[in-house]
Amino acid sequence: VKNDRPSVTAAWVAACRGLYALLPEREQLARDDFGTRFLAAAQLPNVVTRKIFPRRALLYMQVRTRVIDDVMLDFVRSGGRQIVLLGAGFDCRALRFARELEGSTMLEVDHPATQSKKRRVLAHERGARTEYVAWNFESRPLAELPSELARHGHDRTKPTCTIWEGVTMYLTPRAIDETLRCVRDYSVSGSRLVFNYTDRARLDRPSFRDCVGARIVAAVGETFRFGFDPITLGRYLDERGFTLERNAPFRTLAGELLDERAARTTANNRFIAIASRSDPP
Ligand SMILES: C[S@@+](CC[C@H](N)C(=O)[O-])C[C@H]1O[C@@H](n2cnc3c(N)ncnc32)[C@H](O)[C@@H]1O
Repeated sequence: VKNDRPSVTAAWVAACRGLYALLPEREQLARDDFGTRFLAAAQLPNVVTRKIFPRRALLYMQVRTRVIDDVMLDFVRSGGRQIVLLGAGFDCRALRFARELEGSTMLEVDHPATQSKKRRVLAHERGARTEYVAWNFESRPLAELPSELARHGHDRTKPTCTIWEGVTMYLTPRAIDETLRCVRDYSVSGSRLVFNYTDRARLDRPSFRDCVGARIVAAVGETFRFGFDPITLGRYLDERGFTLERNAPFRTLAGELLDERAARTTANNRFIAIASRSDPP
């Protein structure tokens, strides 16, 4: 991200989620009535919106958001009360699930420029209790984040659900490693971690479509930098205190939520990983 301005990709994905109503009802998996408020920050003229956000992109966001929504709601139903959004962007879960999250706290961690934009745009909305923690993952030591979260009311003795949506691809390997160690440090047994990622092999050997996507994000200063290897992810997480429960490509996830034709249009180089904090030996 650029230091002096809100994340443009955060505005794109929020707007993309917010355009759910362009899809037929059976494909509306995650309704976000706040997302289009960030269209202005997406720096796109409204008339071209439909071209910039093709059906494929809308479906991708519906699947991604829904799978993560379900992990969060499961966690809350089983008694969890703390949710940390790492690289929260313009995620509107605190508003979309205000009722389900009653009694829970959202701790939203993000780059200060993006976070202040979000707070301005949503200033008059009332949702679940939210604490904002401004943090640059690349320049502020992540080892200090657990104590900063604690200052905002996070209780390390209780389980946490950490959502790291749409962020891993933008970070350096060092920030990825430090983030996972930080999540391990503030997560007790019973905690969950969910994130999406790009297959490392597809970053190294991109298709034509991948190249177009990569150029577009690089042009707004948010270069794709990182991908995990889906084969070794389990071991990588295990070494950092997490047990990988599910590691599924988008096609598979889409196949469970959409009809076959719609599922086939979603990206096949992206994955969602769901993990839980391993019990200490
Ligand atoms: C594509 S957006 C995803 C936002 C949100 N999680 C969602 O899915 O709607 C990427 C987010 O990562 C954040 N981000 C990227 N690099 C960051 C960094 N070095 N420090 C803090 N946040 C960063 C951006 O500010 C942005 O909000």
